[in-house]
Amino acid sequence: MVLIIFGASGDLCKRKLMPALYFLYKEKRVPSVFAILGTARTSHSDRSFRQMMKEELSRSLHQNQLDEAVLSEFIECLYYQPMNPTREDDYFLLQNRLKEMDRELTNESNYLFYLAVPPTLYETIPKLLKKAGLTGEPGIKRIVVEKPFGYDLNSAQELNEIYTSVFREDEIFRIDHFLGKETVLNILALRFANSIFEPIWNRNYVDYIEITAVEKIGVERRAGFFEQTGTLRDMVQNHLMQLLALIAMEPPRQFNAISFRDEVSKIYRSLKPFKEGSIGEQVVRGQYTTAENVKGYREEESVAPDSRTETFVAMKVFVDNWRWSGIPFFLRTGKRMPTKVTEIIVHFKQAPYHLFECLGTHCPVADSLVIRIQPEEGIVLRFALKVPGSGFEVKMTDMDFSYASLGHLPAMEAYARLIEDCFSGDSTLFSRGDTVEDSWSFFTPVLEYWKNHPEAPLYSYPAGTWGPHEADKMMEDLGFSWSNPCKNLTNTDKYCEL
Ligand code: BG6
Repeated sequence: MVLIIFGASGDLCKRKLMPALYFLYKEKRVPSVFAILGTARTSHSDRSFRQMMKEELSRSLHQNQLDEAVLSEFIECLYYQPMNPTREDDYFLLQNRLKEMDRELTNESNYLFYLAVPPTLYETIPKLLKKAGLTGEPGIKRIVVEKPFGYDLNSAQELNEIYTSVFREDEIFRIDHFLGKETVLNILALRFANSIFEPIWNRNYVDYIEITAVEKIGVERRAGFFEQTGTLRDMVQNHLMQLLALIAMEPPRQFNAISFRDEVSKIYRSLKPFKEGSIGEQVVRGQYTTAENVKGYREEESVAPDSRTETFVAMKVFVDNWRWSGIPFFLRTGKRMPTKVTEIIVHFKQAPYHLFECLGTHCPVADSLVIRIQPEEGIVLRFALKVPGSGFEVKMTDMDFSYASLGHLPAMEAYARLIEDCFSGDSTLFSRGDTVEDSWSFFTPVLEYWKNHPEAPLYSYPAGTWGPHEADKMMEDLGFSWSNPCKNLTNTDKYCEL
């Protein structure tokens, strides 16, 4: 199989794809006959591309992952074809190069195209691949495309039309790297490999659910992309929705591409649509401003000085079905927050009657289950226990499972797991076309509302804080509050400093 990476000189390829591929190669989890053909506008020979990737990998891999002999072998699998992905003629260069490689390899024409390029190229590449005869029989042909797939419902529908006119649905891998994370997949094990959670996993026992994925970094070198995208399209429409689906879904009949994705789809279709009049109350958007030594978003390079792109979103959504009716799901994501943390907290209802009074500083509150996706990966069950000694003081305590206690953390990066699935043709953990449309159909009214109402508030928050106060207010109005990890979780000092 030849993996053809479009955008091979870009950040994604260097920082995520190459380390993942090196890892798979080291573990002998790549196809038995295998090569990588990088393509981009930048001019490189095979040799200079190999050299560049070798330097990048030596720099980025941890010492304990780096095996010089394996790295040298891996680098020999790399080839490079300079080309402009918008120029039809260049696809014939690509075709010739692939024919040459086929002759050297197996003559089977098995190609996996990976689009590590800006979304503006998502339409062009499959069309031109088809024109150049690089799709269809003979051999295996698959395409991997990054999120965001589309920028609203219409564009996602158009993209789906293009992709399905070139590839079969089972040959299209719409990747969302959150679904490759070990701790995200473990939500499925937690829910469906155990029986103790199921009876309480519903509106009768759950009060509300928080899904947080915040980051300490700003937009870094991606401001150009971010200006066009914003947080809702970058994080919410895809990553947070995947987390929501895993928490809310019904058990799939089997863990395969059909059953699993059917259940995801049912959740997206059960989301209670936003009403124009309530978008302002249900969705809070924000943008970070300068604080101490940190630049505000509008001061970042390539950002318009009056930009209205959101770098923070908090929202309240409802899954309108038998299990979850009336239970709010609060989603929150943002850049330049105090820390990097992704976690889901299931808050259970209060005990029906307060037998034990609030003594001193200790008050029994409702139980919760914290699923920490990253960092400090683990699961915490928080419940009340008696403080040893006289009297009857009850305090919240944590039963804390940490992945580190299993001896080792998941070694394989999310990308490695997902790329391996692309090699084997397993699309279970990839978004299906109709599901992507369902997700866009839920969020498009919000995007339209922002577009048509320039006066709709975009709240500012100083870099390094937990976002605009309006996001807190949204929770407080219902008697809840965000569980900011620095405040509440144990052992968080390491990832709490500003
Ligand atoms: C990417 C977004 O998909 O996910 C980035 O484009 C974000 O903006 C990143 O930083 C977060 O991923 P992770 O795995 O670091 O939590």
